[in-house]
Amino acid sequence: MEQAPLIEIRNAKKIYRVGSVDVHALRGVDLTINRGEICCIIGRSGSGKSTLLNVLAGLEHVTSGEIVIAGKRLHKMTQSELILFRQKHVGFIFQAFNLMPYYTALENVAFPLSFRGVKKRRRNALAKEALKAMGLETHMKHKPSEMSGGQQQRVGIARALVADPDIIFADEPTGNLDSSTSDDVMRTIVDVMRSRGKTLVMVTHDPHMAEFADKVIQILDGRIVSIEYNRHDADVKEEAQQGEETV
Ligand SMILES: Nc1ncnc2c1ncn2[C@@H]1O[C@H](COP(=O)(O)OP(=O)(O)OP(=O)(O)O)[C@@H](O)[C@H]1O
Ligand SMILES: [Mg+2]
Repeated sequence: MEQAPLIEIRNAKKIYRVGSVDVHALRGVDLTINRGEICCIIGRSGSGKSTLLNVLAGLEHVTSGEIVIAGKRLHKMTQSELILFRQKHVGFIFQAFNLMPYYTALENVAFPLSFRGVKKRRRNALAKEALKAMGLETHMKHKPSEMSGGQQQRVGIARALVADPDIIFADEPTGNLDSSTSDDVMRTIVDVMRSRGKTLVMVTHDPHMAEFADKVIQILDGRIVSIEYNRHDADVKEEAQQGEETV
């Protein structure tokens, strides 16, 4: 895989002021994420996982430090520049799915394209394609309440991908699903990101979900305490084949 840094974070600190108390949510985070990497941020409750995801996604500013994504310096951007940045480069998958209840699956997936000036016919064609890729061709006209949790999250994945962003951020994407549905949904997320060469940064507190990632970043009290790389069966097979060729 190409090892080009897509996301670079240097000494990122985030302090929330609550009344007269400073909450140090990030205490100096340094991290590089390469294009195409499937990354997982793990750590116990309150360790700063969501804060890290939010500053990376341009939803919040860091208090100090630098965040550079695709050569763009997020820490220097105004709020309106951040909105444009997110529209162009970023997709989101949410724990609570965040689908619009009165819209069909197709309308939910097509919706983000309306901010990008895509014409209706093209919006619908792209949304259909994204839903088909999630195995939901028979559920295009279903509303969220007419779908299972796993199906709703597949609609959420299709919506995150429809505008073809470089990076997908996901905060506890399987947090509202039972364990077997979680496995299916996580496999779907990882497969689709890999096949399209997307970069995925997801947060979970579930170590089992982290096994699906290439790179597992553990955070504790606002600091990265370890970065580990998972070996997947496919990598092992590939290495074995290469080994045979050179013998
Ligand atoms: N908007 C906010 N205002 C004030 N403090 C906040 C805010 N958001 C987060 N914090 C604090 O920052 C710290 C890190 O919170 P964060 O939400 O990043 O944790 P987390 O690792 O995502 O936890 P969880 O697993 O429970 O979701 C916590 O002490 C939290 O109380
Ligand atoms: Mg969180």
